Amino acid sequence: MSNTQARPVESERIPLKARKVSFSWEDTPLHWVPGDPFTTHTINVLHLLLPAGERWFVHVYKQVLPLIRDDQLREDVVGFIGQEAMHSQAHDEVLPHLREQGLDPTPYTAQVDWFFEKLLGDRTLPPGRASRWWLLERVALIAAIEHYTAFLGDWVLNAAELDRRGADPTMLDLLRWHGAEEVEHRSVAFDLFEHVDGSYRRRARTWATAFSTLVFLWQRGVRFFLENDPTLTGPKASLKDLYVRGREGTLPATGDMLKSIPRYLSRSYHPSQEGSTAQAVSYLASSPAALAAQKAVS
Ligand SMILES: [Fe+2]
Ligand SMILES: [Fe+2]
Repeated sequence: MSNTQARPVESERIPLKARKVSFSWEDTPLHWVPGDPFTTHTINVLHLLLPAGERWFVHVYKQVLPLIRDDQLREDVVGFIGQEAMHSQAHDEVLPHLREQGLDPTPYTAQVDWFFEKLLGDRTLPPGRASRWWLLERVALIAAIEHYTAFLGDWVLNAAELDRRGADPTMLDLLRWHGAEEVEHRSVAFDLFEHVDGSYRRRARTWATAFSTLVFLWQRGVRFFLENDPTLTGPKASLKDLYVRGREGTLPATGDMLKSIPRYLSRSYHPSQEGSTAQAVSYLASSPAALAAQKAVS
């Protein structure tokens, strides 16, 4: 194999299963990282983006299934769909809790819903080249986004500073259960993109779209939360806050985020080269929510 091709690490592959978790939010405070609304709300943006975003993954992937000519990949994609559907639902269930605490996310989630359902939804295109082009663009966008969900999953599994700061255990379990499953299935979106298309130009182009959109939506989400948090007044967040939290370890380090960019754009990139399936599996073996889900089915 030449060094310009993706090199999957076979030992990182694992059969995927969805865990039907549920969480009780009654005891989770508004600022679930104590005394740190900036970190809390930066991570809370996940609850705004993921319900619609992961529903959209599922919607697109159901259309791609008939194009898959590899049984193992089809099985992976079916497992991926099951996991993402559950992630979407679990984050959605945090929103009523935020509403009860005086932070109604609807003005923002309505925009996110429009973005995924209308702007990135199915278009009335004639069957054939145009509709296939649009499907492949979306498959490539999902592969780029999954580079970041895996990055964040790996980060949160290792974010010991959140434990040291006394972050709410239920929220940490939601984030780490989700993060661990993102690490488990981190290669699926990329493998699917390589299988149905794999064009390097499309990978680079859709990465640029996905990255700039995520940055745009995320900073808007953080601003939305900080402006609407009923307990906060006074100066709002700046980029410096992000940098400082990254250094402290309550958010990903800015340098690590920047370094992840050339990795995705490298021609030899494969998601299995990043993160650890063993660590993900080990977390899921002790996650309170995952254990309760397992007990409920056995
Ligand atoms: Fe997910
Ligand atoms: Fe994912």
